[in-house]
Order: sequence, then C-alpha cells, then structure tokens
Amino acid sequence: MLARIAGTGSFLPERVVDNNELSQMVETSDEWIQTRTGIKTRHIAEDDTAVSMAIHAAKRAVENAGITPDDIDMIIVSTVSSEQNLPCVACEVQAALGATHAASFDLNAACTGFITAYQMAAGQMAAGLIETALIIGTECLSNLIDWSDRSTCILFGDGAGAAVLQAEDTGEDNKIISVLHSDGTKGNALTCSIGHGKDKTPFSDYVWMDGKEIYKFAVKQVPKVIKEILEMSGQTADDIDYFILHQANRRILEAIAKRMHQDESKFPMNVMEHGNISSACIPVLLDSLNREGKLKKGMKLVVAGFGGGLTWGGFYMEW
Ligand code: UT7
Repeated sequence: MLARIAGTGSFLPERVVDNNELSQMVETSDEWIQTRTGIKTRHIAEDDTAVSMAIHAAKRAVENAGITPDDIDMIIVSTVSSEQNLPCVACEVQAALGATHAASFDLNAACTGFITAYQMAAGQMAAGLIETALIIGTECLSNLIDWSDRSTCILFGDGAGAAVLQAEDTGEDNKIISVLHSDGTKGNALTCSIGHGKDKTPFSDYVWMDGKEIYKFAVKQVPKVIKEILEMSGQTADDIDYFILHQANRRILEAIAKRMHQDESKFPMNVMEHGNISSACIPVLLDSLNREGKLKKGMKLVVAGFGGGLTWGGFYMEW
C-alpha cells in the first residue's frame, strides 16, 4: 500500500513584509538577515487566521486532486499557532468544505508537523481504515512573535499548505516509508507558551529559540534521518530527484546538501520569499513545485522536517 499525493494547495496572506521594513522596527539590516538566513520577505496575516488560511489551502488541494469533499475520510491539521484551541482547526476545515464523512483532528509537532500528519494518515491507509486524507500545515506565527526581538521576528512568516493523500494498492510489496523521531530532553531550545495560569493570570511567553542549538541539531539530524529513509527505500541519495526539506534557513539547507554531497539544485527552496512558516513550509513548497509542473510522475522525493519538541522525521515517495 502506498499513500500518494493526489493534489496540493496553498495560501499566503497578501501582505508582504521585507527586511527593510523590519529594520525600521528592530535593530537589524537586510544584509544581516540575508547573509545569516537567506530570507528577503515573508507574508504576514492581517485579517487571515490559521483557520481561514487552512480552509483556502484545503479547497485548492481538493480542487487540484479532482476529488469531492465527500471523498475525504480524514482531515489532519498541523499547527502551533492557531488563534483558537476549540473547535480544532481540522473541524473548521471539515465544516467549511462540507466533508461530511471525515474524522478531523489537529496535531502539534512544530515544524515536523506536516511529516507527522503524513505518517498518521499513511498509517491509517496501510491499516485499511481510510482511503483519502487531507493533511494541512497552517501557521499564523505572527501571533506568537515578539516584534521587538530581532533574534526571532526576522525569521518567521504566515501561511498554509495542504495535500490530498490517496491510498494506492500497487499489488506489489510496496511499503509506506516514513520515519519520526523526538527528543524532549532538548525541548527548551525552542519554546512558546500563551494562555493563563490556574489563578487566571494571563501569561504570554513569545517564541524563544536557541538558534545555534537548533542550527546544529538540524545539520546533524536531517542527513541522518534521510540516510535512514534511503536505507528503508533501497535508494541512494543520487537516485533522489528532490529533497523537499523544512525551510528554516538557507544556510541549513546548503549545509545539508553539502554534507550529503548532493547538488543544491536538488533542494528546492522558498525560504527567501516566505521565511520559516513552520509546518506550512513543506506543503507550500510542494504546491508551488506541483503547480510549476516540476514534479513529474515517477519522480523520487525525500521529504523531511525538523523543529521544536525537538522533533524530526521524513518520508520517501514517488510522485
Ligand atoms: O523551524 C524551527 C527551527 N529553527 C531554526 O532552524 C533556526 C536555526 N538557527 C538559525 O537559523 C540561526 O542560528 C539564526 C539565523 C537564528 C541566527 O544566526 P547565527 O549566525 O546563529 O547568529 P547568532 O544568534 O549567533 O547572532 C550573531 C550576532 C549576535 O551579536 P553578538 O552577540 O555577536 O554581538 C546577535 O545579537 O548577531 C546578532 N543578531 C542580529 N543582528 C542583526 C541576532 N539577530 C540579529 C538581527 N539583526 N536580526
């Protein structure tokens, strides 16, 4: 059994904030941001929310897959930045689409969220429980950013991406190849708490990150998890057409390509235009590659993410 991507969709808020605009808010510069991260611009939500962006991306993915909402058995939304906890974003999407047969839930695995959603849906397909799933990464990270903290506010953006997955019985011994890892002992490298305590005192501790620690973690663990996926799939790195990775920092992607002795052109990037959109990075990138016609049938892809938790993982698939 395979879990194939049958369609993709994405949505980015209209407002684009460039580095020069940020340099009027905090002590930074276009030169510093581009040199350290590659980021030039990011989309920031004004009226849009994690819910509304998820709905837009979902509708586009359903249309692209050529299915009807009735076909969807499960909707999984990955988010860390929704404005609401209840109802969950996935149920809001289910209602907006009229996906009357779908079970729906949200998950939080930070920037590894889309990979986690893939594995959850693919596992259900392998067990024969569902045939069609809609998986979404939606983030309104601008809600969680301290706009006076130059070490984080330059990094993140808002947006949503979605994919329709369909179970495909190839009749061969094809297995779903997907790997997830976590290490909660290092969780304090990337934190954020918003809510109120038992005494009802509101607290908000915006996104805080030990950037260097996360950088080192990503450059070390991502090539390792890719190796694990390649071994499971019986492929070599040279066989892979594209490595579609979480878009946190251009330097991280370049360092991973170098460690793997692979040409950078096999690592598509959109971090320059969108910044880090956490769990939305990968599906937004997949959608643009798909719509640009760069993904041809049979192409071999490794998709991998890493982030808060700490969490990391990836999957192999053929387009
Ligand atoms: O998706 C979740 C995972 N997140 C990531 O993958 C992020 C991983 N980490 C990174 O991408 C990088 O560590 C950062 C881009 C966050 C930071 O780059 P860095 O090369 O590690 O810089 P740094 O934090 O070591 O800061 C270097 C200097 C510091 O000044 P001093 O102490 O050397 O005087 C900072 O205060 O740069 C300063 N700095 C800035 N300067 C101008 C930090 N932020 C800024 C800024 N503008 N925005």
